Amino acid sequence: MSDAPAFHVWAVPGLPEVQRGDDLAKLIADAEPGLADGDIVLVTSKIVSKAEGRIITADSREEAIDAETVRVVARRGTLRIVENRQGLVMAAAGVDASNTPTGTVLLLPEDPDASARAIRDGLRDALGVEVGVLVTDTFGRPWRNGLTDVAIGAAGVRVLDDLRGGTDAYGNPLSATVVATADELAAAGDLVKGKAAGLPVAVVRGLPGAVGASESGARELVRSAADDMFRLGTSEAVREAVTQRRTVREFTDEPVDPGAVRRAVAAAVTAPAPHHTTPWRFVLLESESSRVRLLDAMREKWIEDLRRDGKSEDSIAKRVRRGDVLRKAPYLVVPCLVMDGSHTYGHARRDAAEREMFVVATGAGIQNFLVALAGERLGSAWISSTMFCREVVRDVLGLPDDWDPMGAVAVGHAASAPKSRPPREASDFIEVR
Ligand SMILES: Cc1cc2nc3c(=O)[nH]c(=O)nc-3n(C[C@H](O)[C@H](O)[C@H](O)COP(=O)(O)O)c2cc1C
Repeated sequence: MSDAPAFHVWAVPGLPEVQRGDDLAKLIADAEPGLADGDIVLVTSKIVSKAEGRIITADSREEAIDAETVRVVARRGTLRIVENRQGLVMAAAGVDASNTPTGTVLLLPEDPDASARAIRDGLRDALGVEVGVLVTDTFGRPWRNGLTDVAIGAAGVRVLDDLRGGTDAYGNPLSATVVATADELAAAGDLVKGKAAGLPVAVVRGLPGAVGASESGARELVRSAADDMFRLGTSEAVREAVTQRRTVREFTDEPVDPGAVRRAVAAAVTAPAPHHTTPWRFVLLESESSRVRLLDAMREKWIEDLRRDGKSEDSIAKRVRRGDVLRKAPYLVVPCLVMDGSHTYGHARRDAAEREMFVVATGAGIQNFLVALAGERLGSAWISSTMFCREVVRDVLGLPDDWDPMGAVAVGHAASAPKSRPPREASDFIEVR
C-alpha cells in the first residue's frame, strides 16, 4: 500500500428499525462494536428524528412546512425553499412525508448539534472511544443539479478547515479557502448509505485530523443572512425591491456611485410607454455647483410665487426651509418628459388624454428608476418642485424647450431606516366587477 492520503468509509449493517425513545448510541455501538478513536460516525437525520419522537400527525405536509418555516426564500408552485427553525435554508423546511406512516410527517431534529453530542457521549460511554459524530441530511444546491448529503449536526468534528493564511502548491496565498470538511464527510457517507438500502449509519476511518473539539457544531456551516448574497429568490427579490422602496429624506455623506445611477436609468427606460415611444430623459446633477445653481434659482422663483400669493416673509422662510431635502442630498437627478412621437388630434379632450398618457408613462419610468435605485441600496426622494418652475430649470440646466422636468429625485445612502407605516391591504384598493 502506498502512503498517499486515503480513508475508508463503510455503511453499518444490522441496525434495527428505529423507534421513538431508542438510544441511538447504544444501537450503533451494538451494530459496530469495533469503532475506534478518530472514527467519524455519520448518522442520517431520519433515524435521529425517529428516536427523538419528531414524528407528528399532520393533515398536510404543507401545514407542517408552514410551522417549521421562519422565512420563505423562494417559491415556485408548491416547491418552497425556506429558512427553517434550525436556521437551515432548504427545500420544504426539511419536513419529510416519505419514510413515515401515512398521515404523519417527520421533522428534523430540534437541535441536531445536541443530537450529535448525545450520540458521541453515548459512544464514549458504551465503547470508551473518542469519535466524531455528524447528523446528515440531503440537500439540493442552487447552482448544481442533484442532491448530496450535508452535515446539519456535528460533535467532535472540525466542521470547517480554515486554510486561509497558507499557500498553495505554487506558493500563492490562500485567501478564501475554508473547506467544508463536515459536508465532504457527509457526502462520502451518502455514497455507501444510499437512500433505499436501509443503511442509515456510516463510518469514516483514516481521517483523524478531522476529529477534534468543535464547540459550535454544524451551525458554523450556515452562512449568515448578512453574508448571503442570494438571501431571496428572484421573484421574491423583485417583490421586495418594489415594497422596500420608500422615500428617503436624510442621507449620509457617502458619495453616490454614478455607475449605479446609470444602471437605474437603464432599468427606468424599460417602463411601458404609448406608441412605442421613449418619453424619458434623466439629467444627472453630479457636481455640487450644478446642484446649488439649480436649487438657488428655483428658490428665487418659489419666493417670487409665494410673494405673489401674498404670504408673509415669515411663512415664506418656513416653507422654503422645507425644500432642504434636495439641498442636503449628495446627488440629484431631474427626470424629464419629452412628447416625441405623441399624436396631435386638434381636439381638446383627445389631446389632453394624449398628454396624460405620456405623463403616466413618465411616472412609470421614474418609479422603475426609484425601485432600481433601491436595488442598488440607494435611497431616493421624488420631489415635485421642478415641475412648478420648468422654464427656470431648463434655463439653468441648458435643456431643450420640449424637455419637461417632472420633479427632482434626491439620491443617496439613507441615514436611517424609513419609518414603518401601517400595512396597506390590497382589498382596500380593489373593486371587482
Ligand atoms: C409626483 C410626486 C411628487 C412628490 N413630491 C414630494 C415633495 O415635494 N416633497 C416630499 O417630501 N415628498 C414628495 N413626494 C414623496 C411622497 O411624499 C411620498 O412618496 C409619500 O409620502 C409616501 O412615502 P413613500 O414614498 O416612502 O412610500 C412626491 C411623490 C410623488 C410621486
